[in-house]
Amino acid sequence: MTEESPIGPRDHIVVRELVKRFGQTEVLRGISMTVQRGETAVVIGGSGAGKTTLLRILIGLEKPTSGQVFVDGQDIVPLGELQMNQVRKKFGMVFQYSALLDSLTVMDNVAFPLREHTKMKPKQVQEKVILALEMLGLKADDAKKYPSELSGGMRKRVGLARALMLEPQILIYDEPTSGLDPHTSRMVDDLIEETRERFGVTSVVISHDMTSTFRIAHRAVLLVDGQVVASGTPDELADPVLNERSHAFIVASGIAWDRISRPPPADAAGSRSDEVASVRGG
Ligand SMILES: Nc1ncnc2c1ncn2[C@@H]1O[C@H](COP(=O)(O)OP(=O)(O)OP(=O)(O)O)[C@@H](O)[C@H]1O
Ligand SMILES: [Mg+2]
Repeated sequence: MTEESPIGPRDHIVVRELVKRFGQTEVLRGISMTVQRGETAVVIGGSGAGKTTLLRILIGLEKPTSGQVFVDGQDIVPLGELQMNQVRKKFGMVFQYSALLDSLTVMDNVAFPLREHTKMKPKQVQEKVILALEMLGLKADDAKKYPSELSGGMRKRVGLARALMLEPQILIYDEPTSGLDPHTSRMVDDLIEETRERFGVTSVVISHDMTSTFRIAHRAVLLVDGQVVASGTPDELADPVLNERSHAFIVASGIAWDRISRPPPADAAGSRSDEVASVRGG
């Protein structure tokens, strides 16, 4: 199943024949997938399927045993640590459970990447943080709060604001809705979609949540035992004739997929609003 077609300008991430072994165990067994610019791709699969391992390879925290990972047409697999640090700047990570530092205020949590990686003046940092918080539906006043004073949904927003600070082109979400109630999950799905539209980012979402997958995914990939057993739109994955295995996986999740709204189509990248330009201008 070698996919040797050339990488087009719209292909943001292209994974080819990715294999990862830990000792004797082959955790990824020849994964190929493409994520286009400006779209949301969701990687679904049961526990132990290899989702987190794939994600760690995408952001360069782990080297594969073999295979290629192209980001903007560049194979990142052979890169050394120094070059990899440059590539990592293209990625923003929204961690499971938000991973905020409890001892720091919202301001200090969100400002952290700017203080660590840029030479921006304190006043500019503050302004940029407040603007991002406001764009994500929080108030300037929330910046003074500590994570323990926030709801789960607010914490997700703060984690997302932090991930956006270095203006990544690609946002990676690790299980963004796990552990959230249905109402908050829906808010997080909307937030992922709004962020994609507003900032023109490409999103890769690792998820167990089939409802969320139908709401946000332009493309979904089902991993089973380290292999892609189906890929396409969620509707294609639900089709019993096209994809027997993913159909069974979706049926087993018990969701009413015909009643879930679908995301609007992903436009070609480069349609960022003026508002975003000002955040980006920093
Ligand atoms: N560093 C490692 N050393 C050895 N085995 C590993 C390592 N990391 C992951 N594995 C194994 O690889 C397999 C896939 O793990 P991975 O964490 O990628 O799954 P996952 O799809 O993210 O699962 P979950 O949904 O439970 O988070 C598991 O069997 C796991 O035990
Ligand atoms: Mg995992």
